[in-house]
Amino acid sequence: MNEQERKQQAQINAEDNFERIKQTSSEEMITKYFHTNYTPQTPDIKKARKRRKEEVQFKYDFSIPEDMQTAGEGRKFLIRTYGCQMNEHDTEVMAGIFMEMGYTATEDVNEADIILLNTCAIRENAENKVFGEIGHLKPLKLENPDLIIGVCGCMSQEESVVDRILKKHQHIDLIFGTHNIHRLPHLIKEAMFGKEMVVEVWSTEGDIIENLPKARKGKIKAWVNIMYGCDKFCTYCIVPMTRGKERSRRPEDIIQEVRHLVAQGYKEVTLLGQNVNAYGKDFDDLDYTFGDLMNDIHKIDIPRVRFTTSHPRDFDDHLIDVLAQGGNLLDHIHLPVQSGSSEILKKMNRKYTREAYLELVRKIKKAIPNVTLTTDIIVGFPNETDEQFEETMTLMEEVGFEAAYTFIYSPREGTPAARKKDDVPEDVKKQRLYRLNELVNKQSAESMRKYEGKTVKVLVEGESKKNPDILAGYTEKNKLVNFKGPRSTIGQIVEVEITEAKTWSLDGIMAESKIEVK
Ligand code: SAH
Ligand code: SF4
Ligand code: F3S
Repeated sequence: MNEQERKQQAQINAEDNFERIKQTSSEEMITKYFHTNYTPQTPDIKKARKRRKEEVQFKYDFSIPEDMQTAGEGRKFLIRTYGCQMNEHDTEVMAGIFMEMGYTATEDVNEADIILLNTCAIRENAENKVFGEIGHLKPLKLENPDLIIGVCGCMSQEESVVDRILKKHQHIDLIFGTHNIHRLPHLIKEAMFGKEMVVEVWSTEGDIIENLPKARKGKIKAWVNIMYGCDKFCTYCIVPMTRGKERSRRPEDIIQEVRHLVAQGYKEVTLLGQNVNAYGKDFDDLDYTFGDLMNDIHKIDIPRVRFTTSHPRDFDDHLIDVLAQGGNLLDHIHLPVQSGSSEILKKMNRKYTREAYLELVRKIKKAIPNVTLTTDIIVGFPNETDEQFEETMTLMEEVGFEAAYTFIYSPREGTPAARKKDDVPEDVKKQRLYRLNELVNKQSAESMRKYEGKTVKVLVEGESKKNPDILAGYTEKNKLVNFKGPRSTIGQIVEVEITEAKTWSLDGIMAESKIEVK
């Protein structure tokens, strides 16, 4: 069969399949299905704020319903991902589910039969981007009414977003929330046959579903969720409402996943949670913390282990001791501080002071002398004074952060800070951000310069984005390195001599004799 015949055959299969689903579901069944099983479930932010006592159930029995197992044959899906690593990883899970239904991935919107927008609600500009994209997709839907367009991720958990889509964006077929990902096959079926927009958003967290398929994006580095949700309720932040309460995965499931990744040849894992240091605090039957988990993962034969994100409040001495062992536990810690002012930190409900943060940094630096620290900072929190902002600037220098993600505060509906009056003009906030970024760039450039003439270990990921003759990878401290070397080293850890430092990356060369095979 040549390429064209294969495509034709796939098309025929897809049509047969679609007919088969329609027939097996029969008019009567479809009517029954929609009239008995499907009622729209919209989000409720008040419910999402509540923390329930019920125990989380661990489920190991996910499977694709029989009538959807081949629904995707000859069909293509596309997922656009916004937001944090958590969303990136959710996209890998959804891609895995699509593939188990026979769908293949595409990057081309014109080829796609299903388009999902996996959205982020953290700041207003993140949401504006998504609404822009929703608008852009409308002509496609008019051209191809069979196209299914869905919105999922954190924005779906917001009442105002769902209302706005229901009222103004009727070309959207499907909205589902962060707790409904495992329901994807059912939801697609409903979107295929239903006439109304399908909305299924559970406001309170669901169970932990362990055996969801994953189509990981690469073969070198992998994300591993260790926990879901957040109970910290920082006053500016929407995440506790979009992701539910803190729920930790069982240690044996995490360890098994990491072992499996090693067996598949992965070289690096990043353990994920909104606040990984709270890992295990929700276990009733087990006294096992993040430090214990890191200690167990330390013993696994995977060259590199990272984690994100760490909340300073739960960063305990046991974890510091475990990290100080080094080995595969890399000496780069992302430790969001948010502000250098104790007064602002209090208003943010971060539950630590400037002094407590500095004390923690001192302890970490003592135990891990070569540590690299990076952070997140918000400027222009409601009523932040010039003096309070200056405290952020001095903290930035005092800690010596090598990089920082910096943001202007964005009010999020349903959060306590959004109800506060704010007397800081927008241009003052912009000016503060500008000054902070100048300092961040300066500190980053200085930290990079130290590498000139030195040799670093780089996990080679592939060709550089700008130049296919150049390879790119990251150091243990997560610095991007572009260098000349043989393509055969992709996926390996090699030594690279740094020839030139830029603000955000390093240039270097690799001698073949320096290949380190791991
Ligand atoms: N759980 C992580 C943060 C996840 S959100 C932690 O606590 O470290 C990533 C970053 O977005 C936060 O660290 C914060 O700096 C920023 N952020 C969160 N809410 C914001 C808001 N309303 N406006 C501006 N920045 C915000
Ligand atoms: Fe948001 Fe705070 Fe939770 Fe981080 S710890 S996700 S900033 S509430
Ligand atoms: Fe955004 Fe949700 Fe992550 S709000 S930052 S995608 S947890």
